Parts: sequence; C-alpha cells; structure tokens
Amino acid sequence: MALYNLSNTSYSGKMNERTHQYNNYINQAEALRIKNENKPTLEEAELYQAAARVCGEIMAINNTQRNVYGQWKARRDDCIKTMERIVAAINPAPAKAPETTASRTIESSDRAVSNTTASGFKTNNACKDVPAATIESWYKSMPKHSFADVTGMDDVKDLLMNHVSSSGWSRLDEILGIPPFQSFFLYGAPGTGKTFIIEAFAHEMMQKGFKFIRLLGGDIHASLVGVAEKTVEIAFQEAIDNEPCIIFIDEIENVCVSRSQNNIEGHEKRLTVAFLEAYNLLKSSGKRVIFLGATNYPSMVDEAMLDRIQLVRIPLPDYETRLNFFKDTFNVLQPAADFTFEEMAQSTENYSFRDLGRLADTIAINIKSQAMDEYAVVDENEKIDEEMTSKMAVDAIVKGELAVTRELFSKIQGEMPPSDKTKINEEIEAFEKRVKGINS
Ligand SMILES: Nc1ncnc2c1ncn2[C@@H]1O[C@H](COP(=O)(O)OP(=O)(O)OP(=O)(O)O)[C@@H](O)[C@H]1O
Ligand SMILES: [Mg+2]
Repeated sequence: MALYNLSNTSYSGKMNERTHQYNNYINQAEALRIKNENKPTLEEAELYQAAARVCGEIMAINNTQRNVYGQWKARRDDCIKTMERIVAAINPAPAKAPETTASRTIESSDRAVSNTTASGFKTNNACKDVPAATIESWYKSMPKHSFADVTGMDDVKDLLMNHVSSSGWSRLDEILGIPPFQSFFLYGAPGTGKTFIIEAFAHEMMQKGFKFIRLLGGDIHASLVGVAEKTVEIAFQEAIDNEPCIIFIDEIENVCVSRSQNNIEGHEKRLTVAFLEAYNLLKSSGKRVIFLGATNYPSMVDEAMLDRIQLVRIPLPDYETRLNFFKDTFNVLQPAADFTFEEMAQSTENYSFRDLGRLADTIAINIKSQAMDEYAVVDENEKIDEEMTSKMAVDAIVKGELAVTRELFSKIQGEMPPSDKTKINEEIEAFEKRVKGINS
C-alpha cells in the first residue's frame, strides 16, 4: 500500500487549537500593556506578530471558505497594524527620502550582523531583522518525491520538464535566445497538487545541482513591520547569489496583493511594491534562477505580476488520473470481485488529490481494523499477537480475501464528501476571463 501522511487532527480540532492560540496571544499582549502602564514594548509587538501568524495558519486551513478566510484576514490585518503602531511608537522612523525604483540596499548598520550560522551556513545578506539562521531555514533539502511519484499532470510535467532538460543553459539556449531566468505561476483549487508538483520539480532540478529556496507567503506577510519587504528582497538576492537556484513562494497572494483591490492595506501595498522591485532585479540578473509561485486565489495577485509570469492552471484530476491514483495508492489491496478501480474513478469526479487521499486513507484504516478483528491471532496469555495477526492480514490482502468492497467505498464516500469547490472554481473562471482581457 502506498503511504499517505495520515492527518490525525480534524478540521475542528485544528481550528480550536489555533483559535485558542490566537486568543492567548491577544490576551497576553493586552495584559502586558496593562502591566507596563500603557507603555508599548517590543514584546507586545511580537505577541501581535505571533497572533498574525496564527491568523495566517487559520486562513490556510479555510482557504475554500471565503467568509471564514476573510474574517481571519481582517484579524490578521488588525494585528499587523497594531504591531506597526507599537513599533513606530517605540522607535519613531527618521524622515526618509522617497524611495526610487532602484535596488534598495541592506542598511549598513545591519552589516555588523554575522553572516554565518552555527552549522556553517554562509550568506552575504544577513541583517538584524533577517539573521543568517532565518535565511538558512529557507533552503530546503531535496523533496522525497520526484516526477515519477506525480500521478497525471502530464502537461505541467512537460512544461517544467523542458527546463529540466535545458537546465545546463547551454550555448544552444543562448543561440535560441532562451533566457536563463524562468518563472511560473501555478494556480488552481486547493488540494490539486500545486505544491506537490513543485516539490517534485525541485527534486528533479536539485539532482542537476540547483538549490531550492522555499518561503511561505503567509509567514512573510505576518513579519514585523519592514521585515516582510526585507525578507523578499533578501530571498531574491540569495537566489541570485546561489544560481542555479529555484525559488518558490507558496501562497503568493500574501506577498503580491493586487493593488487594485479596494480594501488593500498600506503594509500590503508596500510589500507588493518591494516584491515587484525584487522580482525585476531577479529577472534582469541574467542568472539561472527559476521562480515559482502558487496560489488558490490568483485574482488576489497584483496584475503587474501576472503580466510578467507564465500562468499555469492546475485542474482537478481527470478520470484517467483518478484511475491511476487508486491503482497506485491501493497497490496490493484490490477491489472486491464485483467492484473495479474504474468504478472508483467514475464516482470521484470533482475530487482533488487531497480529497482522494483522505478517502483512500480512511478506507485503508477501515480495512486495517477489519483485518485486526477477522485475523486476530491470540497468544497463550489471551493477548493479541500483533506480528502474527499482521502477517495473516497481509496474506489475506495478497490473496484477495480482504479487499475494498463497493459497500465500504460508498460508505466512506458518504461520510467524507469532497470539499466544496463551487465558489473557488467560479473565482478561477472569472480570473481567467479577466486575464485573457489583460493579455490580449
Ligand atoms: N499528482 C499527484 N499524484 C499523487 N498525489 C498527489 C498529486 N498531487 C497531490 N497529491 C497529494 O495530494 C496532497 C495535496 O496536494 P498539494 O498540497 O500539493 O495541493 P495544493 O494544490 O498545493 O493545495 P493548497 O492549495 O491547499 O496548498 C499532497 O499532499 C499529495 O499527497
Ligand atoms: Mg499548496
């Protein structure tokens, strides 16, 4: 049986835990303010920052539920505004000359900060707000799964694969005018495999010597005032300094928020501008860097970005892909005699990979508990001999005595329907119509 990461925390469990954390941070911040006789402190700002980060996590859990997502986004914006106010009160900013579009350099006072970490990681870009240890944490080790583990998605694989084969950026590319910098923007409903395929792509490219930098848009957005912009600037500079390199920003709608939205906040606008400036520098650097962004909410991303990047829609898995998914995932476990993988695939239209994975996990757990009941081997002390029981159950699965019945499949399907994608699909359709307008 192919392995899945079993998530043992339910939606409500996760929500309760995060909501509790959020309330805790806010209560602590308010208590601190009273204790300090209304004097703002950095510790208080950090508590609002932590609360903002939790809001980001809650937004990610609710990325298909616009209302809940919006409520927590509003809370996150409030936390960030409060944090900005506190920091400004502690440390009033000196009058600044207006910024130009030229590259913004890292302040000289920051240069005194160590550029090396305890583990020996080196960078040229550490500063007070973004220390070397933080930068080190952006570099990811090679993801375990490769393109071979990605079911279906052949078009996307082909598109990216062209870059795998030309990753040497040879004289041929030069003659053909293929630029060393490439960028892709993957969008689609939640659970369709955007992150998964990008990780698989990184696996392939790392085998060719590329480094892999990965940041989460939500984390950047929730950084302390001014730090978010610096983070983006430094991350892009790292990619330039470490070519060949992939830089992947997941949940990109948090760092490149569309400036044409009505309710855009000042800090979001500044971050978008910083992001676009850093992106332009990266693009014009002439370095072998591949930029990847992913989102469920393409319409929330700034138009200037959409204009600069190759848009790639990630659809829900089609019939053939679902069929292969069930075959790969169930592997040795077969459908019962009167049931087929084809029927499984037919009955799961509108399922994302995440929905399919949840369904398959739950079926596997059910089969396991059925096996533990039916094939239990008891030792002389009347205790279950787990090893023997497991061996008997495996034999039964291999022989087809224990199989996925239509009844079990339908029962679990009824208990866990696929996530509702109506709204998000409508938004994506509207986005595609709009983009056609922009690009035509
Ligand atoms: N092509 C695939 N083949 C097999 N399994 C897949 C594939 N794509 C995704 N999965 C499985 O589905 C899960 C969800 O995929 P993933 O997290 O990449 O979706 P996503 O589009 O990034 O979702 P979100 O928008 O919520 O971030 C993955 O953890 C992986 O186990
Ligand atoms: Mg993802």
